[in-house]
Amino acid sequence: MSDRKMITAALPYANGPVHIGHLAGVYIPADVYARFNRRLGKDVAFICGSDEHGIPITIRAKKEGVSPQDIVDQYHTVIKKSFADLGISFDEYSRTTSAKHKEVSQDFFKTLYNKDKFLEESSEQYYDEEAKEFLADRYIVGTCPNCGNENAYGDQCEKCGTTLSPSELINPKSMLSGNIPILKETNNWYLPLNEYEDFLNEWIIEGHKNDWKPNVYGQVKSWITEGLKPRAMTRDLNWGVPVPLPNAEGKVLYVWFDAPIGYISFTQEWADKNGKNWKDYWQSDDSELIHFIGKDNIVFHCIIFPAMMKAHGEYKMPTNVPAFEFLNLENEKISTSRNWAVWAHEYIEEFPGQQDVLRYSLLSSAPETKDNNFTWKDFQTKNNSELVGIFGNFINRVAVLIHKYYDGIIPAGNENAEELNEITKAITEVENFLENFEFRNALTSMMNLARFGNQFLQIEEPWKTIKENPEKAANSLFIAVQIAVGLAQICEPFLPFSAEKLQKMFNVSQLNWSDLKNEKILIKTGHQINPSELLFSKIEDETIEFQFQKLENTKSSNKKTNPNANPMKDEIQFDDFTKIDLRTATILTAEKVEKADKLLKFSVDSGIDVRTVVSGVAESFTPEECVGKQVMLLANLAPRKIRGIESQGMLLLTNNADGKLVFVTPEVKVENGIEIG
Ligand code: MF3
Ligand code: ZN
Repeated sequence: MSDRKMITAALPYANGPVHIGHLAGVYIPADVYARFNRRLGKDVAFICGSDEHGIPITIRAKKEGVSPQDIVDQYHTVIKKSFADLGISFDEYSRTTSAKHKEVSQDFFKTLYNKDKFLEESSEQYYDEEAKEFLADRYIVGTCPNCGNENAYGDQCEKCGTTLSPSELINPKSMLSGNIPILKETNNWYLPLNEYEDFLNEWIIEGHKNDWKPNVYGQVKSWITEGLKPRAMTRDLNWGVPVPLPNAEGKVLYVWFDAPIGYISFTQEWADKNGKNWKDYWQSDDSELIHFIGKDNIVFHCIIFPAMMKAHGEYKMPTNVPAFEFLNLENEKISTSRNWAVWAHEYIEEFPGQQDVLRYSLLSSAPETKDNNFTWKDFQTKNNSELVGIFGNFINRVAVLIHKYYDGIIPAGNENAEELNEITKAITEVENFLENFEFRNALTSMMNLARFGNQFLQIEEPWKTIKENPEKAANSLFIAVQIAVGLAQICEPFLPFSAEKLQKMFNVSQLNWSDLKNEKILIKTGHQINPSELLFSKIEDETIEFQFQKLENTKSSNKKTNPNANPMKDEIQFDDFTKIDLRTATILTAEKVEKADKLLKFSVDSGIDVRTVVSGVAESFTPEECVGKQVMLLANLAPRKIRGIESQGMLLLTNNADGKLVFVTPEVKVENGIEIG
């Protein structure tokens, strides 16, 4: 058994607040594990921080019309506060834009570079000549080769769900300028993952067959069996940690290269502040590294990051990577963009002082082995029947009765009573389950002890025996209060806020786990306890109704009246709109373009001039039908040569139900050249 535990929780992207899916699938279980290991007396470093690089950040920034730095500053603060409010006991919560992180991740890269661990390779990437930027896959739009959706992204078509690569898109366009991107040669540094296959086989496939979760083991095995390929560890982007080499201008570290190094750099930040040696946690044999992650992160934590650490040479491999599946909300996939989520910061505001209720309910539906579901009804039941009805009720009755009959002084009872074994049983079970990352079972064991206590009181009825057999009543309450204090001790990793209240109430201090196992009597005869404090209170139907209503509102604002309509394009600013010169115009003449079945050539009166416009409408109109029509002209579109004819603008068109083109025209005839806006 190792003395140190280096525990990490996946760095959340600072492009939005955290929701219950993140909490149930990473942060709450990780916190329970960290707290439990501290109780075991391990030297724990529980480390996390915001992932502030990568495309998710720059996309959000573009959407909101602000800089990436603005985005990460805003969300880092919100996320950090939510974690603190929920009692997630990180030893360090930092961010990947910190100076230390830059230094550590650049050093890491240079070490690999100097050891000749990279392949330098050139490839052709899409490049926007106007924006002077290489384009990340997400920044290229075009027509989906699969379904014809014209707004498919370079990595995926959101209409039909197909995964794409930018080269598959028909008519690719840059989202930065709208221009057609060119292919341009660029050099990047690749980590040849294929060279690590033997090592990964031996370490994971052979070595962790039995102790890693089947979902993690299975995924890793299939990746390795399919064969690994070199993967670029640098990108041509302007947001990220600069590649620390000469001639690498405009290049940054791949976000999945720098982010996991964040675990190391944040440990260093913490160690520096606290007089510790970070290497004791990352590079020493008496330390175990445990990564808590969601299932979409498995390949990065079980293959890429270990290969990086192996290449570096001085690091220990993770002992375990407990990855969680996903949590749904009311049977639907949680989605940040569709606002289908319960947000941590909103919960904290709407349920003040009830952090443990969320922790309890999310732990009991933690998606450990398969996807799970959160419902508000279930949340209410767990609170009302379990936390209030069993746990709180038992402890409250014990404390109230001891005050009533004995002025708050623990009476004498049988110190060898058989019922006390139930406490030991719960302690052992919780320990075994937590060692195995079985959080739901551990929680159930704790709750079973509370159930047992409740039944015990119900059978013993000290409120009746106090009159005819006061000694029996005293014995019952002596045993009951041992159970109650047992619960106060055991519940801390799960319900830290309640544990603190309980320690005050029973006037006891928190025991480490081995003392807890060894002390048979957790609260002694003659010990004075404090007045009972409310632990949990009933959640009313109205409260749940309000949450339903919030979700209903989200649903209606997400509802499409037309299922065929494409999703809305990225938001633009008013300034973007004012650049567009849209005005009324009238078609003066129309004629077919030779050898082009689809094209008509128009001359239009734009109010400011008479100009030529070529338009692909010949399959929908005869030239005669068009003459005299008033139309909308996009007047300041840069002229384009179409079949040798210069087209000076674009006429606005849409489709009717049969797919035939129709002109967009003003409702009544107006003068030509009137601007639209
Ligand atoms: N930001 C990533 C995500 O949310 C997780 C990064 S974990 C790290 O999926 F290891 F890279 F830090
Ligand atoms: Zn498609």
